Amino acid sequence: MTDKTPSTRDIFNNEDSNKTNNPHIDQIMSARLKRRGLLLGGMGAAATTLLGAGALSGCATASTAGAGGAAAASGVLDTLGFAAVPKSLADKVIVPAGYDVQVIYALGDPLKPGVTPFKNDGTDTDWDWRAGDHHDGMEYFGLDANGQPSANGTKRGLLAVNHEATTDQKLSSFFIHANGGTSTLPRPAAEVDKELSIHGLSVVEVQATAGGWSYLQASRYNRRITPTTEVMISGPAKGSEYLITKFSPDATRARGTLNNCGTGKTPWGTFVSGEENWFGYFHRDAKDDERRGKKDKQVAALIRYGRPAGAASRHGWESAGSEDKYVRWNNGAVAASSRADYRNEMNTFGYVVEMDAYDGSQLVRKRTGLGRFAHESVSFAKPVAGQPIVAYMGDDSRGEYMYKFVSAAKWNPADANASNRLAVGDKYLDKGTLYVASFKDDGTGQWIELSMNNPIVAANPDFEFKSDADIAIFTRLAADAVSATKMDRPEWGGVNPRTGDFYMSLTNNSNRTVDGDMGADAANPRVYSDMKNGKESKGNVNGHIIRVAQANPADTAFKWDIYLFAAEADADKSTVNLSNLTDENDMSAPDGLAFSAATGVCWIQTDDSAYTDKTNCMLLAGIPGKVGDGSKKTLRYKRPDGSEKRVDTYVGKSQSPDILKRFLVGPVDCEITGLCETPDGKAMFINIQHPGENTPMAEVGNPAKYTSQWPANAGYGAGKRPRSATIVITKKDGGVIGS
Ligand code: FEO
Ligand code: CA
Ligand code: CA
Ligand code: CA
Repeated sequence: MTDKTPSTRDIFNNEDSNKTNNPHIDQIMSARLKRRGLLLGGMGAAATTLLGAGALSGCATASTAGAGGAAAASGVLDTLGFAAVPKSLADKVIVPAGYDVQVIYALGDPLKPGVTPFKNDGTDTDWDWRAGDHHDGMEYFGLDANGQPSANGTKRGLLAVNHEATTDQKLSSFFIHANGGTSTLPRPAAEVDKELSIHGLSVVEVQATAGGWSYLQASRYNRRITPTTEVMISGPAKGSEYLITKFSPDATRARGTLNNCGTGKTPWGTFVSGEENWFGYFHRDAKDDERRGKKDKQVAALIRYGRPAGAASRHGWESAGSEDKYVRWNNGAVAASSRADYRNEMNTFGYVVEMDAYDGSQLVRKRTGLGRFAHESVSFAKPVAGQPIVAYMGDDSRGEYMYKFVSAAKWNPADANASNRLAVGDKYLDKGTLYVASFKDDGTGQWIELSMNNPIVAANPDFEFKSDADIAIFTRLAADAVSATKMDRPEWGGVNPRTGDFYMSLTNNSNRTVDGDMGADAANPRVYSDMKNGKESKGNVNGHIIRVAQANPADTAFKWDIYLFAAEADADKSTVNLSNLTDENDMSAPDGLAFSAATGVCWIQTDDSAYTDKTNCMLLAGIPGKVGDGSKKTLRYKRPDGSEKRVDTYVGKSQSPDILKRFLVGPVDCEITGLCETPDGKAMFINIQHPGENTPMAEVGNPAKYTSQWPANAGYGAGKRPRSATIVITKKDGGVIGS
């Protein structure tokens, strides 16, 4: 393999939109509150609103397990019973001895009777009834033997799957077009129609029989949600002037979901999915700022969300014709008002969407109360009767933030069994409070409220917030106002069922430097250099996983440490390989992260391009301890002027192979993602995303030049073009995965 220039995917995924220089929250608070003429007593009250009761008196109890720190689930594993899989560059899925792996659901697979088997040569049709591309986050929803919803169903169930994006270079999604497609503008409508259909979500029924697992082409549950499917706007932003479009002049409806990345499963049994890199799909011509005029505050917001005037769209969908389904991707103010154009269309993306996998009769909801950013997963703290529902989330771009939503409604356990599950979602996800994380150097932190109750947001001089709807839509600017901590690309999160601690992958950050706006800090402490094929990368090259402990999930005070620092095993142990990783568990770019409800194992999936000279992306199993189980470490950086910068950080206990081990390595050029399991922990489903993505577009007709031919080379399906696909892993002895 040779080192590649960044793929189109990298360019569109790793947006740098956060140019704010965030001073410390204490400075902001005192400056703004002074300006508002608040007396000391008033400041105390405001600070309590801002930081939450308890924050000002410290948070010494944060590490004791509270409501969310449930007793360990039965069946938890304290040891990992498999032999570590070695790193690999082979074009196949490798699992430990004693395990079986099967491909069950790949790009293009038909989802209703009569749709022809996938030919995989670029000539297939009926895309609205085929599996979409780039399988990403995924959740399992059980069915009983009669095909009725059953949370305990282990032999039959539904997979709800995100189809995040497509393998593309130079505008076109090249593997789905016979000759690679058109890489110039305007794009042909027929190509764009296919590309629209391969994005979004799918629901597919799967079943275990004596021969193993397979998907059911004829299941009544199978369906697709694409970027053109009608959806409902829900929560505080419903009806906002900034969501008015030609399609929905009352701002209550929108079309579709896009760039769906991480997922979550609600305590009431629905599927939630994060819209991640949607901004890249919109076109803004160079004159759009001028037309909008200086008074339009959206100009600042469009820049903050990665769409300056003149921004070109990822696929040129807006160029495919005059029909509304193409024109809507032009985000310019081109008509007389927002009721006559799509200047606000981009504001209808960037949310968590909620879908009932079991019920195709209801529209998907955009849950605007959870904020608008490059969403990944949604991790729910264990629900406790009489306490609010708490969900943790991240914004995946360099230097973006971590968020938490706390519902206004208190949990009623009867809601776990409601038949109208989306009505339960309305109850818990449409009213509540959004917070953003501020990490302090002393190992504590605060969740800062983003609402009109917070005087710093309400009186923000840089961007005027008039309502909680404005905060829901322009969340990043509200988080800037309170000087949230800029993180190293927050990806997936998970709540440890043993302790209640919340874990979040920070996948990497090439913009992390020793000093400056994104200078090394306690929570993002590493800045170093790594070589790959003679080429140097700098910053936090390999990523880390941070974790947060709270006495109660709804609290605003927390303690934190770093569960593990990803690194190459032979990297320096005092500056880079701080978790003492070895050949059995070294990794780069942790991304997908999920705790098994059955075993408590922390499953870590990678989406890497830094260590791919030595290994394809992988899945690891960890048995983590808890926040505070390691020690303080001081990193020392020499500045060009000879002075030293010291950064204290808090590292969890050393990661020996007993408690962290590589379980799987995927085929060439893939990302490992989407892990979910049957409730008994005996079947684990994983997505292999974009194998072969670095194949040059010009070689689309030349299978010998594909960097991957998976899953065809594993005996699945026709043709040789690589396909994103779902696999299932079972243990040969029928046991629990990882045991
Ligand atoms: Fe879709 Fe942040 O990965
Ligand atoms: Ca290296
Ligand atoms: Ca991801
Ligand atoms: Ca990623």
